[in-house]
Amino acid sequence: MTFSEQKQSNSKEQRRLLVTGGAGFIGSNFVHHWCKQYPGDRVVVLDALTYAGNRQNLSSLAGHQNFHFVQGDICNDALVNALLKEESIDTVAHFAAESHVDRSILGPDAFVRTNVVGTFTLLDAFRQHWERRNQPKSDRFLHVSTDEVYGSLGPDDHPFTETTPYAPNSPYSASKAGSDHLARAYYHTYGMPTIITNCSNNYGSYHFPEKLIPLMCINILMGKPLPVYGDGQNVRDWLYVGDHCSALDVVIHKGKPGETYNIGGNNEVKNIDLVNKLCEVMNELAADLPIRPAQKLITFVKDRAGHDRRYAIDATKIKTELGWTPAETVDGGLRRTIEWYLHNRDWWQPLLSAEYQAYYSQVYTQV
Ligand code: NAD
Ligand code: DAU
Repeated sequence: MTFSEQKQSNSKEQRRLLVTGGAGFIGSNFVHHWCKQYPGDRVVVLDALTYAGNRQNLSSLAGHQNFHFVQGDICNDALVNALLKEESIDTVAHFAAESHVDRSILGPDAFVRTNVVGTFTLLDAFRQHWERRNQPKSDRFLHVSTDEVYGSLGPDDHPFTETTPYAPNSPYSASKAGSDHLARAYYHTYGMPTIITNCSNNYGSYHFPEKLIPLMCINILMGKPLPVYGDGQNVRDWLYVGDHCSALDVVIHKGKPGETYNIGGNNEVKNIDLVNKLCEVMNELAADLPIRPAQKLITFVKDRAGHDRRYAIDATKIKTELGWTPAETVDGGLRRTIEWYLHNRDWWQPLLSAEYQAYYSQVYTQV
């Protein structure tokens, strides 16, 4: 028996998952994780393939007999109802979202639609499906959310815990906060087994080029300016995406319905320090940099509107109650990530499309 088969036979029963947003950054990493760990489970991905969704992220699963991809919108209740029924889904892992703060400043409408209305559509469809099947106790609705709902910390504040009051500051985080409240309400009102996770900043493979780490890696390789917002002193708590996936695995199998779990890497880094670190590793690993050392490209630009100063997660609850801790260090994870971008130019080059360039010139008018 292989390790995966052993793990599968140890888990209570086989699951039938609907993974929304499974063609995006974290969703696709999660789908790879799940198909490897639990090859006997059914995994159905529902993804609208917005600018952030990429079928290529899942191409290696084409021959996996328990994997199925459906292109569609989580706001389409007829489609969602049909999928839940036809696929006898017992577990929803809900990643689908508009996820980028900068885009939410330019156009908040899509964030309210997908993050609030889309989450409501899924929750209510799953409630009806769960009730029709006599409310199985092992069903789960995992709502994947963010630490941004808690707002911004001062330099000496204690990291966010599960009881930190919500104080979202961007249209993105406000829409995620709204969706968290709906997920919570479906547990308290209907007893539906929802669980919410609030995670810090992820990094790793398949991360769309406009987010900080991939953007810096790609700009270094292209010899383009590295735009650091404001004074570069904002702090984020970085978690390797593989660790986020292992945390979500533990939450689905061992988490308690109605609970919230914070997930974080205990890796607080100032943006400017992170960018310098990326430059150092790139100088070492990439032989053909157009500008060397890459630090010469660092350019301070106009700050993001409403830019949260510091995020940090207190992950004590998931550690003590579910036994999860991250496995990757920030140095090891960043090196792996940089190597991935160096070896996967065919993945990211096509994403620097005309739409991407238009977005880029709108955000970085000063660069
Ligand atoms: P992403 O933007 O890379 O992926 C989002 C995916 O959702 C894409 O594949 C997109 O096509 C799909 N999608 C968007 N709108 C849809 C719709 N209406 N119907 C169906 N599919 C739709 O996002 P990500 O970074 O992978 O984040 C995934 C989830 O994790 C989000 O809910 C986000 O809020 C949360 N999260 C992200 C981070 C992070 O650092 N990236 C940290 C904590 C939490
Ligand atoms: O904290 C979790 C959140 O992390 C998730 O909920 C979001 O979906 C995800 O996008 C991420 O949000 P951030 O806004 O923190 O990520 P981003 O990569 O856009 O920016 C990280 C930090 O870097 C932030 O302080 C802004 C800064 N930044 C970002 C970009 C793109 C720059 O200084 N320059 C840039 O060009």
